[in-house]
Amino acid sequence: MEKLVSSWYNDKQKPLPESYIFPPQTRPGNHIIPKSNTIPVIDLSKTLGHARTDIIHQILQASQDFGFFQVVNHGVPENLFKDTMDVFKEFFEMPAEDKASLYSDDPLKRCRLYTSSVNFDREEVHLWRDNLRHDCHPLEECIKYWPENPTRYREIVAAYSIEAKKLGSRILELISQGLGIEPGYFEGKLSESLLISVNHYPPCPEPSLTLGLPKHCDPNLITILHQGDVKGLQVFKNGEWIGVEPLHNALVVNIGCQLQIISNNKFKSAEHRAVTNSKVARTTAAFFIGPSPDCIIEPAVIFISPLYRAFQYKEFLLNYVSVTGFSLENFKLHA
Ligand code: OGA
Ligand code: NI
Repeated sequence: MEKLVSSWYNDKQKPLPESYIFPPQTRPGNHIIPKSNTIPVIDLSKTLGHARTDIIHQILQASQDFGFFQVVNHGVPENLFKDTMDVFKEFFEMPAEDKASLYSDDPLKRCRLYTSSVNFDREEVHLWRDNLRHDCHPLEECIKYWPENPTRYREIVAAYSIEAKKLGSRILELISQGLGIEPGYFEGKLSESLLISVNHYPPCPEPSLTLGLPKHCDPNLITILHQGDVKGLQVFKNGEWIGVEPLHNALVVNIGCQLQIISNNKFKSAEHRAVTNSKVARTTAAFFIGPSPDCIIEPAVIFISPLYRAFQYKEFLLNYVSVTGFSLENFKLHA
């Protein structure tokens, strides 16, 4: 528990400990704030009739060019959108003793509060973030592991996870139509595992030397990120970092590795990272939609020259190590 950045770090004058300093090649340096924000923003208010074709086109284009887009008018009610972020912030603001029972060094725990990456004691550099994560499906079964405080946590997060899953299914349906894959392709096992990962990045004394999350691709199918109103998310494209500007009531959507494989590389699962800032804490919530461990992944049959072999998702997860960088090479078919 004392390892949590939010537990031990309470003095802005204190220097950044050496164990949090990234090597020069991977630290953000002085270019923390990238020049432009070009990640597409897609309005989902009209997905019926004529406008549907246009929205599908925008989603496909963004998934190809960036692997990232933001959505507005996404259907998650405004008050729930706000309450969800508030309750996550309240969780991290609670005194240490109220959170201690959830702290664990065991990655297999159903609901886990920890810091940095999967294994703090074995990593070379620590990340400037604390994390709370738990699964969200089946709701009735997993909700009993969730935090009991704040008292409205379970009610609000359950409602949010239902809405986020609904939104994810809607986007996946638009994608399957756009790619020419059969309707319902992504339903069932491919999108059965739902996980919420709440990142808390306290203000940092030296944002140019450390990272909240290092450059990584999400291993799952698709991610819906509530990034609140503090900037920090950056996407890597053509050798440059692009900032994803927080927008009022918008959610960030990104293509995970499995969707890149199913789309036979038509879509890109873009690398991204989270930088810190010295002024305010930043809280974000990633809703990961992914396959069940025994689900078979392969390029959709419409692609007549598949670039990847079929595999079980659990094989992918065993190979996936986000912090050291990761490649899809092991899953490629070689002609
Ligand atoms: C993630 C992620 C970005 C952020 O949790 O996988 O990329 O800004 N989060 O917190
Ligand atoms: Ni990510």
